[in-house]
Order: sequence, then structure tokens, then C-alpha cells
Amino acid sequence: MTSGGLDRRTAFGRAAATYAARARLQQALAWRLAHHCRGLALPAGPVLDLGAGPGTLAGALRRQRPDLDPWLVDDCAPLLALAPAPAERRLLWDLDRGLPPQAQGAALLMSSFALHWLADPVAQLRHWLGCLAPGGWLALAVPVAGSFDGWRQAARRAGVACTALALPDGDALRNAVEATVRPSLDRRLRFTVGYPSPLAFLRELRQLGVQGQASGRLQAGAMRRLLRHWPADARGRTLLSWELRLLLAQRP
Ligand SMILES: C[S@@+](CC[C@H](N)C(=O)[O-])C[C@H]1O[C@@H](n2cnc3c(N)ncnc32)[C@H](O)[C@@H]1O
Repeated sequence: MTSGGLDRRTAFGRAAATYAARARLQQALAWRLAHHCRGLALPAGPVLDLGAGPGTLAGALRRQRPDLDPWLVDDCAPLLALAPAPAERRLLWDLDRGLPPQAQGAALLMSSFALHWLADPVAQLRHWLGCLAPGGWLALAVPVAGSFDGWRQAARRAGVACTALALPDGDALRNAVEATVRPSLDRRLRFTVGYPSPLAFLRELRQLGVQGQASGRLQAGAMRRLLRHWPADARGRTLLSWELRLLLAQRP
């Protein structure tokens, strides 16, 4: 998947310095997901944070469960280098190739804000479930279709393409889990963030490594039309909504 014309890995690499400071929603979600993992009875086996980036989720887990020492898996070296984890726990690995050998018989596979970047999220999710040890857990947080409605509305009104990142269908992810195991937690969350302008939102995406337009670039004229049609609330703020799915499931 590309990010505003840049290769996704390059875009995330360029944003590495600003990512940790800007990724407040990701941090809040990681803390919440780690909290759900606090009391899980885990079998023997490795724990992995998939698409770990700078270790947001692994760090939140370590603070809430200091007994666990997760592997951090990501294919973006500059982001992974920021993770406060021992070098031997960081794995530079492309998750579109499946999971690394270290994941076999995993006690806990967790991932936050990463699965939607993979070329086939549903197929990879099935593969992840197959790598769990008996009694092992999957803990997943992922943005899903239904996000960015203001952006889509603006594109429709302006008659231009919506270049927001295509997100997986939340129910398709749940069904993929349910085909193997019954989720013990399935939560839909919606977060709405206010920005002073659409440009401020697009700038923040760039600072997160997503670039203004995740699946292509608009010409300047089309971009101006898009910005003019972007809906605002009564206080003139640009509202952007994230639709998130939290899933927790244990392999029998
Ligand atoms: C939005 S960041 C989330 C990082 C972290 N999990 C968090 O919650 O802050 C998405 C991460 O997924 C990683 N990623 C995306 N596609 C990947 C792939 N094919 N293989 C490995 N990592 C990937 C990116 O490099 C990036 O670090």
C-alpha cells in the first residue's frame, strides 16, 4: 500500500521523529488493549507486538505486565529503532510475508493500528490465529471501514476521489476470528477528533507517516475543491472520526 505517492515504509520512516509525539490516539488505544491483556492467563510461548512501530503497545503491556517481554515486529527500521526495547527483541520483518519464525506457538499475539496496512488483513489474521499455542491469545485493535466519514463526504460533495486509506471491514475481521475461535471481547469504538482546519488534519497524518493522502495524490485544483467542501461543526472545527474494532480471543 502506498502513502501519498511515497512507499509506506519510507513515509513511516520519515515521520519516525514526530510519530511518538503525535500518535495520541494510538497511545490511548494501546494502553486500553494492554489493559485487557493484564489479567489473561497465558500458556508458555512468546509474546509479539505485530506492526509495533516505536513500541507503543509493547511498552503499554510492559508497564501493566512487567513479567512479559514482548518481541517487537515491524519492517520500518527508523520506527523500530525508537522502541525502548533490547535490540535482540526487535525484529525487522515484513508482515505481508506472514509471521516470523519467532511467532510459532505464541502465547500472545497483539497488534494495534497496524493490521489495516497489510495487503490482505483477513488472510493475515487467519494466519496469526493459526500460529497461536493452544490456550494462546490474540489481542487486536484496528481502524475499520466507517472511519473518515467527513473526508468521504467532502470528496463526494467536491466530486473528487477520496484518497483516504482503504480500511478493512470490521465484521469481516470478526468473522475471520470467529471461524477459528469465539472472541471473548468484540468492541466497536468511535473517536472523533477536532482540528482547526482540514489542512491541520492532513498535516497531522503526514506527521504520523500516513501523508495527506494515503492512496494517491489529488491535483492542486481538486485538493482546493476538497478542502472547500470539508464539513465543519458549529464552531468551525474540522471533525474526523475513527471507527475502531477491539478483538480479544483465545485459541482452545
Ligand atoms: C500506525 S503505525 C502503528 C504503530 C504502533 N503499533 C502503534 O500503535 O503506535 C503502523 C505500523 O505498522 C507497520 N507496518 C505496516 N505494514 C507493515 C508490514 N507489511 N510489515 C511490518 N510492519 C508493517 C508500520 O511500519 C508502522 O510501524
